[in-house]
Amino acid sequence: LKKVIVLGSTGSIGTSALDIIRGNGDDFQLVGLSANKREKELLAQAEEFSVTSLALTGNQGSCSRITHSGPEALLDLIRDTEAHIVVNGISGAVGLLPSVAALESGKDLALANKETMVMAGPLVNSLAEKMGRKILPVDSEHSAIFHLIEGRNPHNIEEIIITASGGPFRGHTLEQLQKVTAKEAMKHPTWDMGYKISIDSATMANKGLEVIECWRLFDIPLDRIKVLVHPQSLVHSLIRTTDLAMYAHISHPDMRLPIQNALFYPNMKAVPGSFLDLAGREMTFFEPDRENFPMLPLAYRAAESGGAYPIVYNAVNEIAVQAFVDNLIGFAEIPELTESVMNEDWSEEPESFPEVLHIDAQCRKMAEGLIKKRI
Ligand SMILES: NC(=O)c1ccc[n+]([C@@H]2O[C@H](COP(=O)([O-])OP(=O)(O)OC[C@H]3O[C@@H](n4cnc5c(N)ncnc54)[C@H](OP(=O)(O)O)[C@@H]3O)[C@@H](O)[C@H]2O)c1
Repeated sequence: LKKVIVLGSTGSIGTSALDIIRGNGDDFQLVGLSANKREKELLAQAEEFSVTSLALTGNQGSCSRITHSGPEALLDLIRDTEAHIVVNGISGAVGLLPSVAALESGKDLALANKETMVMAGPLVNSLAEKMGRKILPVDSEHSAIFHLIEGRNPHNIEEIIITASGGPFRGHTLEQLQKVTAKEAMKHPTWDMGYKISIDSATMANKGLEVIECWRLFDIPLDRIKVLVHPQSLVHSLIRTTDLAMYAHISHPDMRLPIQNALFYPNMKAVPGSFLDLAGREMTFFEPDRENFPMLPLAYRAAESGGAYPIVYNAVNEIAVQAFVDNLIGFAEIPELTESVMNEDWSEEPESFPEVLHIDAQCRKMAEGLIKKRI
């Protein structure tokens, strides 16, 4: 039995992870769960799976069954609970330290929280190596790439092509984009996800974050990472080998597959209902619209600039998305704000996790200041 901790268990990734564990009780035992505020849902999950290690980070929790609460709750839960693997399904930069704690305490990491690699890829990679632990990508594109390149000679890989659905506003003009609401931005055409990643898909910041995540997970030069829009979300990514042939990872858009592959690694098993018949299916591919969706080129700029720029890109985007949801700024202002803060000098590479968090806090403050000036 593989013992599993699921962080962010009440969210979209978390509930899909629990679904996998529910269906594979002979393979996995759930031993720890965490949520931010949704205590009732957390307790119901604990009841169903007989889990006793529970962390609630956003408030104290009214029930004595919550074993860990307050700011250190997550890290204590990870350190105190014996497990083989931690699924990190927390959204946002707050997911970084739990990833670190998982690796430091000798657990493998099934990583959905892309912010971990974007903010601190080199530090996280060397920690995993030092601890002899694995990072198993859960983001569907990175899970696809992981399986496409596994066992191949890296010299034979010409390029990686990450696919993007294009989000709910694919094909919109700048004029149309200026009028969109947060409610519209949250409606993803092919995936059912948390609100932050849904809005990031609408701006294409999600693809930007994924480009940086891919660069850091697989150590592939940035100019060999491409993005293609593929509205049907059936091809989750492709690789082109040096003979110029291409290999694609194709499945229904269902996050249970990459989560299950991470949990079962190196084995594989079908997710119920996942058989895909390609007959009669249409698959189309387009270049992304970089002009109207500047969060994508900005991500390349952040990665090319190196230093702390990826941290800035992620942090300012988080603040800007929240401001958009709170109706303080418009959709088109999200990239404007990100670019403004990125125009400062962030060239110094952080050398420790506290330095990463310090830079993250610094640029959040700067972004909040800019938002206050606008309203
Ligand atoms: N959803 C997808 O299909 C998908 C696909 C690929 C990658 N990802 C990545 O996976 C991560 C999670 O995405 P999601 O869509 O599952 O998000 P979500 O549905 O919003 O769920 C987020 C989870 O994290 C918890 N959480 C929120 N803020 C927290 C905080 N400050 N401290 C501790 N826990 C906190 C939430 O608890 P409460 O419920 O109590 O608020 C919830 O359990 C993101 O990094 C996203 O980019 C998601």
